[in-house]
Amino acid sequence: MAHLILLTTAGLLLSSVKAQPAPSVQAGITEAIKNAANATTLDYTAFVNPFIGTDNFGDVCPGASIPFGMVKFSTDLTGYAPAGYVTDPTMMIRGLSPMHDSGTGSSLGTYGNFEIMPLLCPDGFDTCHTSLARRERLRKLNTDLASPGYFAQTLDNNIMMEATATRRAGLERFTFPSGSKPYFVLDLANDLPNSFAGGSLNIDADKGQITIGGSWGSSFGPGRFNYKAYACYDLLDGGKQTLSEYGVWTADSFGLDAKGLGQTHLNLTINLIGGVYQSGALFSFDGTPKQVNIRVGVSFVSTDQACANAESEVGSASFEEIHAQAKALWNEKLSKIEIDVPNTPPNVTELLYSSLYRSSLTPNNATGETQGLFEGTSSFYFDSLYCSWDTFRTFFPLMSLHSPVEFAQIVDSYIDGWRKNGWMPECRANNLPGWTQGGSSGDVIVGHFATHYHNEAAALGIDLEELYSAAWTDAEVNPPEWNIQGRQANVYNQFGYVPFAVLDVASTGRQTREGSRTIEYAFEDFAIRQIAQLLGKTDDEAKFAARSLNYRNVWDPSVVSDGFKGFAQKRYSNGKFNFTDPTHCSPVDNTTTECSLQSDNTNGFYESSSWEYSWFAPHDTAHLIELMGGNDTFVKRLNHFFSAGYYGAGNEPSFQTPIGYHYANHPALSVDRVRRVVFENFDITAAGLPGNDDQAAMASLLSFHLLGLYPVPSTTQYLILSPFTPKYTIHNSYLGTSTTITTINFSPHSVQKVIPPGVMAYVANVTVNGVPSASRCHFDFYDVFRVGGNVTIELTADKAAADDCLGALPESLSTGGFASAR
Ligand SMILES: *[C@@H]1O[C@H](CO)[C@@H](O)[C@H](O)[C@H]1NC(C)=O
Ligand SMILES: *[C@@H]1O[C@H](CO)[C@@H](O)[C@H](O)[C@H]1NC(C)=O
Ligand SMILES: *[C@@H]1O[C@H](CO)[C@@H](O)[C@H](O)[C@H]1NC(C)=O
Ligand SMILES: *[C@@H]1O[C@H](CO)[C@@H](O)[C@H](O)[C@H]1NC(C)=O
Ligand SMILES: *[C@@H]1O[C@H](CO)[C@@H](O)[C@H](O)[C@H]1NC(C)=O
Ligand SMILES: *[C@@H]1O[C@H](CO)[C@@H](O)[C@H](O)[C@H]1NC(C)=O
Ligand SMILES: *[C@@H]1O[C@H](CO)[C@@H](O)[C@H](O)[C@H]1NC(C)=O
Ligand SMILES: *[C@@H]1O[C@H](CO)[C@@H](O)[C@H](O)[C@H]1NC(C)=O
Ligand SMILES: *[C@@H]1O[C@H](CO)[C@@H](O)[C@H](O)[C@H]1NC(C)=O
Repeated sequence: MAHLILLTTAGLLLSSVKAQPAPSVQAGITEAIKNAANATTLDYTAFVNPFIGTDNFGDVCPGASIPFGMVKFSTDLTGYAPAGYVTDPTMMIRGLSPMHDSGTGSSLGTYGNFEIMPLLCPDGFDTCHTSLARRERLRKLNTDLASPGYFAQTLDNNIMMEATATRRAGLERFTFPSGSKPYFVLDLANDLPNSFAGGSLNIDADKGQITIGGSWGSSFGPGRFNYKAYACYDLLDGGKQTLSEYGVWTADSFGLDAKGLGQTHLNLTINLIGGVYQSGALFSFDGTPKQVNIRVGVSFVSTDQACANAESEVGSASFEEIHAQAKALWNEKLSKIEIDVPNTPPNVTELLYSSLYRSSLTPNNATGETQGLFEGTSSFYFDSLYCSWDTFRTFFPLMSLHSPVEFAQIVDSYIDGWRKNGWMPECRANNLPGWTQGGSSGDVIVGHFATHYHNEAAALGIDLEELYSAAWTDAEVNPPEWNIQGRQANVYNQFGYVPFAVLDVASTGRQTREGSRTIEYAFEDFAIRQIAQLLGKTDDEAKFAARSLNYRNVWDPSVVSDGFKGFAQKRYSNGKFNFTDPTHCSPVDNTTTECSLQSDNTNGFYESSSWEYSWFAPHDTAHLIELMGGNDTFVKRLNHFFSAGYYGAGNEPSFQTPIGYHYANHPALSVDRVRRVVFENFDITAAGLPGNDDQAAMASLLSFHLLGLYPVPSTTQYLILSPFTPKYTIHNSYLGTSTTITTINFSPHSVQKVIPPGVMAYVANVTVNGVPSASRCHFDFYDVFRVGGNVTIELTADKAAADDCLGALPESLSTGGFASAR
């Protein structure tokens, strides 16, 4: 979502801070990878490092979750920590809470509601530190633990907090120093972005149950919208624990610090003057039990449903049982891609499985937990889609290879967004509409689904005509408020680009990013063209194909930067361009204006420079090459883009650029470039991401890089590169296919930043089930993953000989590509 240039710079300073996961986390992974050589069955969860991306503004949540879980138990720390946890050991822990998102930035954080904090109160109830500022504590250094379905952190007072999860519930286990009486504070109001808008809390001492419900605000959307959330805390561990004292408390930063022993009810509205009016419950247990077990259920419907979720999903199961169940779900997911672990460089194994893990961590499956317009919907429902602008490029394409059932459920949720809201969601955060980034990137997501699974769509519960109507509406029906509804369709359709400073009498939105919005709308039009083609809607196919070339309308052939001519620029409705320096908002730009949704971004591009966005026409790169002056200039310009520092590895519009050489018939240069990109930007440490994971956009990009593939969104074309592993199999259990890709001549020496001369690393030839591929640069889903079988990618050390597609270039509309649907 938000690659913030300012944060990237600050990140360099922080990344020197010593990371805090327990050394045993990495040691265990290293051992598991080593032992894989002789294992009969592999535990893929043992290769996952949930801490990758928890430093350096990766904003990854290492919390306990199941795949696509609605709960992700993590601690919440002070400072910039949108996902709750960060490794920085100078940050203070305020408690453990059940709901988080992973990999989102540019906000104060998301969720973190219903936080619980274990306390030692040697002088009794009234002396407990309940307020956020007084209760916060440092961690015990180097003891943080996490693995799929499990999270643990120990406070500097030696209280250990552990959690494990189901979809909407979980168990928390607290281990106290021996001889201490366990106290707990539980929040009603607090959440990470301080957005409480009223709610209530009830203690039922007989049942040993605390219920909480209230309203909070979005982390990435209009502040005037609120969502509702509910929790149910069961405190008695099936009768094994006895409550001692209980009551409620309130606190603020002006000196309020009040407690009511024996009181069982809080009902507080929004504090309109601002500032946090903190409140919650405080309770203790009889005796000095070493461990306290607490069961937690959450819901977006009601407290009753939160309690029912805990009962149905956890019931009386033990911590170990729930953890084992979560782990089994993760193994099922992770084993969809199996690699030859013993012959793969260990860091690649860890990077790949950690990335695959995060690629199934979000969005959050809130099916049956709907509210507002979606209340009672019969569709699947996913919360925290964050922005489709992030996920259409690699996240959903990765899912399309192995998980059509889950993909269809999320597509159903997008289409349901159109049914209920009028347009498909571009962003959804905290069950609320989030800010539009590119336009209506959901069109590309449903387009990708349709191109891959139109034969199975009905069986997967998707009506393709409805899917088409949803995408068509995004493009044709002008929304009143495109900040949250997608496109400024009226003026774009009128002018063929989004004009700068245009009079729009029918819709509102922040009038910025005209260059990038045009470029993204055009690609979205291509996605709609693809669906129209599948459905035989020839008139629409032609219309949207023509519109998809609109990216050309913001191309100013006269602009020169660093000796290269022709750049995308914002343009007035009279046709004149408004110049912005193409390097502005690049990673090396040193001007102080902001580049995201801020009002001082008058650059014409979203979170990007013109240098960066001028590469983006995945459906028509052949023409882009012509605009740029031919193949040689295109390659020189690509090289300059990287060497001058204009490439932002963590920024979505740049995802495909390293593979741009393919389109100029230089696939070996793409291989070199991707090696560099991976080793300069990713590693297995907590600081191992070049910025926000962005709802696993980055995780899925890295997965493709390691597998030696790159997807062209909303098409079935996959670009071929050089895998970082000698062999892998992608299982698609819905289609009943397994596809094994064998990298012949694989050399572990090729797996480094610069491929040494003489090392086999470049693609010499490709066969699919024994038949040589028509091109060494790409193949098609329908010929490969749709049928399954054996693919060989044979490598050579002869880079010059390999630097040619030896067959068709990847397709482009202007050279007759994408001529018929598969
Ligand atoms: C695997 O088994 C072989 C043969 O028993 C043995 O030589 C080798 O050391 C084992 N490798 C590991 C990593 O345990
Ligand atoms: C909380 O108080 C409001 C009035 O301020 C009332 O309308 C509401 O029903 C109360 N809610 C609960 C759960 O007690
Ligand atoms: C989401 O939850 C629903 C309801 O439990 C379930 O049927 C569905 O398979 C889940 N989907 C995913 C992707 O987790
Ligand atoms: C371009 O737009 C900016 C506002 O974003 C304005 O200040 C400037 O005068 C415009 N330049 C031209 C040449 O129109
Ligand atoms: C910003 O960068 C440009 C080009 O690299 C340089 O000429 C200029 O001096 C820099 N300005 C500042 C304030 O650092
Ligand atoms: C670039 O090279 C390809 C393949 O060699 C060729 O087909 C194409 O026409 C060239 N494009 C331009 C603009 O010269
Ligand atoms: C594996 O990753 C670690 C941490 O980034 C690094 O220190 C080590 O050099 C890497 N090993 C290889 C073989 O690349
Ligand atoms: C594949 O490439 C290798 C290495 O360049 C070469 O020896 C072999 O003959 C090629 N095979 C085919 C079928 O082209
Ligand atoms: C793929 O290769 C395996 C092992 O070499 C073989 O058993 C299998 O039949 C092959 N599958 C196809 C579809 O050729």
